[in-house]
Amino acid sequence: MLLLLLLTSAFVLVPWTGAGRIIGGCEVKPHSRPYMAYLIIENRLESFSCGGFLIRPDAVLSAAHCVDIKGIMSITVILGAHNISYQEQSQQWIQVTQWVIHPKYSQDGFKNDIVLLKLKEKARINEYVQTISIPMSNEYVRQGAECEVAGWGLTSMTGSRTNVMREAELKVQDWTICQLIFWNYQRQSMICVGDDYGKKSPYKGDSGGPLVCKQKAHGIVSYGLNGHLSPEVFTRISYFEPWIREQLRKFALQELPDSPSSD
Ligand SMILES: *[C@@H]1O[C@H](CO)[C@@H](O)[C@H](O)[C@H]1NC(C)=O
Repeated sequence: MLLLLLLTSAFVLVPWTGAGRIIGGCEVKPHSRPYMAYLIIENRLESFSCGGFLIRPDAVLSAAHCVDIKGIMSITVILGAHNISYQEQSQQWIQVTQWVIHPKYSQDGFKNDIVLLKLKEKARINEYVQTISIPMSNEYVRQGAECEVAGWGLTSMTGSRTNVMREAELKVQDWTICQLIFWNYQRQSMICVGDDYGKKSPYKGDSGGPLVCKQKAHGIVSYGLNGHLSPEVFTRISYFEPWIREQLRKFALQELPDSPSSD
């Protein structure tokens, strides 16, 4: 099984068997996806990158496996970015003060692969930084729906890097395809997504980014199969909507403690 988070240090990248990118996509028009967040997750030894997206000025959604790392020292969210290799004027760098992993997240099978990050300060909403809506719990994205995924992940299975945001168009697939391939596939809480020709896909470094269908974030990049581009599994946001709302209410109510609750 292939996780799509990316160790930012090239030296630590494990050699890949098979091919990998947002593969088959293209560079987005700069700042056309103002909800996109670039996450830097650091512990003492390493630094990882993931995608995420702004759902409220103080809250970012991402994949739980992005923060399922021992001894996290800091998580930084970069908003308003296009080229992440330098500090663009449009960028806002904000620290994460607390994160809540879904209580039923399991590493074994990547069930409930969702985390909510609370920002230290509210993002300034402007031309470059905006929120995206999430679906209600009864809004089910159907097979055949056309969606897109964006990120700064590897652009080839051989490890080519990109410093600008790229995107790919994908289609929601018949869930039975994913059920055949992934032993842990759960129809209720996951979305089976792919490209009809098997040539486009999110890849390492794209984890946590949104699957956007009709202007709403319906999925979160979760995992795929080593050596295969399609299909891939996304966390189904509608299933988690009540949980997300509850966490957001808590964020709004509490003056949060310093220590992150990562369990
Ligand atoms: C991103 O910025 C870097 C540093 O300024 C630059 O070298 C690179 O060409 C830029 N990438 C693109 C695709 O514009």
